[in-house]
Amino acid sequence: MLKSRDLRAWVVLTCGTGLALMLGLLIGCPGSTPPPDNANDNANGNSGLTGKYVGASKCSECHVTIHEDWTATLHAGALETLEAIGQGANAACLGCHTVGFGEEGGFVDRATTNGLAGVQCENCHGPGGDHVNDIGDESKRPTISISSNLCGTCHQGEHHPNFEQWEGSGHAALNETLVEEFAAGAALNNCGNCHSGDFRYLAIINEETVADDYLAGRTAEEMTPITCAICHDPHAQTGNAPLPEDGRDYQLRYPEIANPTPSNTIEDATNKERFNLCGQCHHDRGRTWQTTSRPTHPSNQANVYVGEMPLPDEDSDVLVLSRVSVHSFAAEQCATCHMYRQDFESEEAPAISGHDFGVNTAGCVNSGCHPNEDQAVAVLTTLQTEIQSRLDDIRERLGDPAEWEYVANGGPDEEGQALISDEVKQIRFLYYYALEDGSLGLHNPDYVRDMLEKADELLTGLGL
Ligand code: HEC
Ligand code: HEC
Ligand code: HEC
Ligand code: HEC
Ligand code: HEC
Ligand code: HEC
Ligand code: HEC
Ligand code: HEC
Repeated sequence: MLKSRDLRAWVVLTCGTGLALMLGLLIGCPGSTPPPDNANDNANGNSGLTGKYVGASKCSECHVTIHEDWTATLHAGALETLEAIGQGANAACLGCHTVGFGEEGGFVDRATTNGLAGVQCENCHGPGGDHVNDIGDESKRPTISISSNLCGTCHQGEHHPNFEQWEGSGHAALNETLVEEFAAGAALNNCGNCHSGDFRYLAIINEETVADDYLAGRTAEEMTPITCAICHDPHAQTGNAPLPEDGRDYQLRYPEIANPTPSNTIEDATNKERFNLCGQCHHDRGRTWQTTSRPTHPSNQANVYVGEMPLPDEDSDVLVLSRVSVHSFAAEQCATCHMYRQDFESEEAPAISGHDFGVNTAGCVNSGCHPNEDQAVAVLTTLQTEIQSRLDDIRERLGDPAEWEYVANGGPDEEGQALISDEVKQIRFLYYYALEDGSLGLHNPDYVRDMLEKADELLTGLGL
């Protein structure tokens, strides 16, 4: 599980293997040395360390890269932040800004436990003394958790309600269909990329092969949804935010903005590498107008935003010409509208973390895009009303669903599907492509209008 590039070579070669533990006595493996000798640390203000919590500098002896990365994060300087506003000794603050404050062996003050200042490895991995004293013993290894509860112990409350807001979002809930499939030992490799935090952690973050029955027998509570650590790198600043402020970078795992050239091939439409952070999952699954089983998956937002849709093959005629969205220039793209943030002002106006991922029209006014919120709401309502009524019109003109719908939606069976004309297949594809995006045109208004225009032309051509 541990990426060996992070460990100093000698540890991996000697102490990292059980067999070498005996040898360790001879060459001085950390696994065989007595509890940390604090003699040198006394001078550095660490006389109060008991050996339970050892501090990040101890971890740095072996976990070199992670430690280096972590040093540059805001977590590392969390006590300095308090000190800068004269709160460095306020007991009400230290619990979330240092290691183990208030616990036996935890942070007390700079004079006696300096090595435990800031948010460190041991805040997230638990006390590391036992591990450091016996590296070879797997049962003493620090725990790794990708649960949001971990981050939520600190990232909660009226000043930074990231946890509570996330908890109420669709990302915190696994949908029932998927829970059943995963628990039955199926579909994990097919659907887990976007629907399972457990799968993403193992397959994408750790680059491991995951068996389809990995979650077999688990309940929903024992499965991990899309948690903090799926979008955020817990250890490093990544440079993936377009507008870092005050040294902040949000530690995003993927770029917050991407502007790929629109492409109508299945390969490109389903290639997550082309899209921004949200588009890692909110992208098309490759169904085209020739697909008969079911409509486009409701995850095609990044494609609609880019102005593209998958075609059956290279020789197929383009149904709708690509259009760059007016909204693609929103400064933080999806996050501009879906993650509007506001600092804490008062009990009456607590902070907004944007982690419910719902649209906040206050975001429309950011960077001067819309003159004010009322105007933005008015344009949005007008657009959505227009698109909804055009969708209703198309559906009505298609007539009896039993004759034109997809198999999964109560249409003809596969044999019957073969009798449906190409035109009707194209119309229903366009209809659902616009509908499943979920924004009723907002993500790319003119592109969606072009889709509905094309569907209208095809219907007229059929005399409908
Ligand atoms: C003397 C070297 C050394 C020191 C010091 C050290 N570690 Fe480790 N750590 C290791 C080795 C070796 C492994 C096992 C590597 C493997 O499984 O590939 C490991 C594994 C881990 C793991 C992964 C556990 C897992 O289940 O995969 C975590 C987390 C970890 N260490 C955290 C820490 C923290 C936090 C500290 C400081 C408190 C620390 N380590 C100090 C050598 C060290
Ligand atoms: C022990 C409390 C604690 C825990 C646990 C914790 N954090 Fe933090 N986090 C903080 C504090 C305090 C700050 C602000 C530090 C500062 O500004 O000085 C912070 C800052 C951040 C930032 C802002 C970084 C930036 O560049 O803007 C991110 C992102 C973050 N934490 C994510 C996480 C994630 C993800 C987890 C869980 C894997 C987590 N945190 C766990 C206390 C914590
Ligand atoms: C429940 C845990 C917790 C407690 C208690 C806590 N903080 Fe924080 N603090 C955080 C987290 C988490 C962040 C990071 C906020 C973010 O980046 O969204 C933070 C960030 C900060 C920041 C950076 C500016 C900001 O708001 O992002 C300051 C300043 C700060 N805290 C001061 C304090 C003071 C003063 C106290 C005590 C009165 C205190 N904190 C108590 C968790 C806590
Ligand atoms: C804010 C919480 C947080 C902090 C601080 C933190 N970790 Fe982690 N760590 C995690 C999470 C979550 C994972 C699992 C996700 C991942 O691997 O990116 C992890 C994974 C690991 C792993 C195993 C995977 C790997 O990348 O090798 C090691 C080892 C590790 N951490 C060591 C450390 C050390 C050493 C420090 C301090 C220098 C540290 N961590 C600080 C949360 C944290
Ligand atoms: C790791 C995959 C993944 C990433 C990354 C991701 N999402 Fe999601 N998102 C999902 C899944 C899966 C659902 C649907 C859950 C369900 O309905 O079962 C969802 C649902 C939503 C919803 C529907 C409303 C709701 O709360 O149910 C919105 C809006 C949304 N995501 C916005 C975003 C935004 C904005 C980003 C980027 C900041 C983002 N998502 C990143 C997987 C992801
Ligand atoms: C490319 C990422 C991705 C893959 C792969 C994926 N989904 Fe989804 N799925 C999403 C997103 C994103 C949403 C949420 C869209 C929204 O809420 O607007 C979603 C929504 C859903 C929903 C709820 C909406 C509805 O139509 O009822 C179900 C059920 C679902 N997916 C099932 C599956 C199944 C089953 C698989 C595997 C066969 C799968 N998904 C594969 C991204 C994906
Ligand atoms: C679906 C992806 C996603 C998930 C899940 C997610 N975040 Fe974020 N987070 C983001 C993005 C994107 C930003 C940057 C928003 C912006 O540009 O304004 C961000 C910003 C932040 C920030 C810095 C801005 C702030 O709020 O002060 C913190 C801290 C943070 N997230 C913590 C968390 C925690 C804690 C969790 C879990 C409870 C979490 N995030 C879950 C995508 C995510
Ligand atoms: C300019 C603002 C804006 C931008 C940028 C934006 N969205 Fe949206 N999004 C909306 C609006 C408005 C809706 C419709 C919400 C409603 O009607 O309740 C919406 C709807 C959605 C939905 C369906 C919500 C649901 O409840 O099913 C998802 C999922 C979504 N957006 C994801 C994304 C993703 C991913 C991106 C980036 C590729 C993105 N959005 C970019 C404004 C925006």
